[in-house]
Amino acid sequence: MKKVAVLGAGIMGAGIAQVAAQGGYQVLLRDLQENIVRDGLLTVENNLAKAIQKKRLTTQQRDEILSRIQTCTDLAEVHDADLVIEAVVENMAVKKQIFAELDHLCQPHALLATNTSSLSITEIASATRRPDKVLGMHFFNPVPVMKLVELIQGLETSADTVECARQFTKQIGKEAVIIQRDSPGYIVNRILIPYINEAIFIRGEGIASSEEIDMAMKLGAGMPMGPLELADMIGLDIIYAVVLAFYSEFRDPKYRPHHLLSTMIRGGYLGKKSGRGFYKYEIEKHEEG
Ligand code: NAI
Repeated sequence: MKKVAVLGAGIMGAGIAQVAAQGGYQVLLRDLQENIVRDGLLTVENNLAKAIQKKRLTTQQRDEILSRIQTCTDLAEVHDADLVIEAVVENMAVKKQIFAELDHLCQPHALLATNTSSLSITEIASATRRPDKVLGMHFFNPVPVMKLVELIQGLETSADTVECARQFTKQIGKEAVIIQRDSPGYIVNRILIPYINEAIFIRGEGIASSEEIDMAMKLGAGMPMGPLELADMIGLDIIYAVVLAFYSEFRDPKYRPHHLLSTMIRGGYLGKKSGRGFYKYEIEKHEEG
């Protein structure tokens, strides 16, 4: 495996392109418009500049990494990639359309991976004639920092495909865990989201304040962040959507969201991004234009 194409130059795609180039792969980063791909590349350049400041990288290494990243807007240019990692918007119709096109464009040996956090790998694979070569590769944000990649097998993903993806993950300096069944939330979110939801129940039942709940989990359970601070960072609307997705998929009341969560969202309390959630935040003001 030599050439990797990354589709989507947003938060996740830019990070995936960076770590793949750091791992020595030739990378093609693709998005819909020139300016979006340029922003993605700028994110990579800024990340590498920070690594140089911290003396984790030399300028020569930076130049080598950047020389391995090409960009494009035409999907047809990914035709010679050995591995395609899709990180576009979380929308099944869009992903299926892209996978169907990739299936026609790419060489028969190419692996097609999706970074989806909640959609079915099996359903995405069904848009191709090579479901054995389709898998989930779920990276974590921020990609250059977080060590884990969850590798998810769809119904027809072959053992060879998983093995190739595992080797790629190792080569880019990350650890893989294998998810043998395409199931909502995989491992990390299946545990993390109900944990956060339970903290919201404790808050909603008036058992303790946000500060006390967070302090309890940091000092009593050794968590680096409290569950409600973490909820604010992820976004309360995202937490709500994931809990509801678990609820509708598993039909188990243990995944019901507390009404405090829906009430907060209706009131515009979305967490850090809206300036208020379980805590208040200063929103950075940027000038228009
Ligand atoms: P984002 O919104 O930052 O980036 C998505 C990019 O996809 C945008 O640049 C957009 O222009 C591009 N795009 C949209 N439609 C496209 C198309 N048809 N073809 C090519 N590019 C297209 O989104 P983000 O956060 O990077 O998420 C991408 C994927 O990664 C989603 O599936 C998401 O669920 C998943 N994910 C996100 C995580 C996060 O913390 N943000 C964590 C793990 C997975």
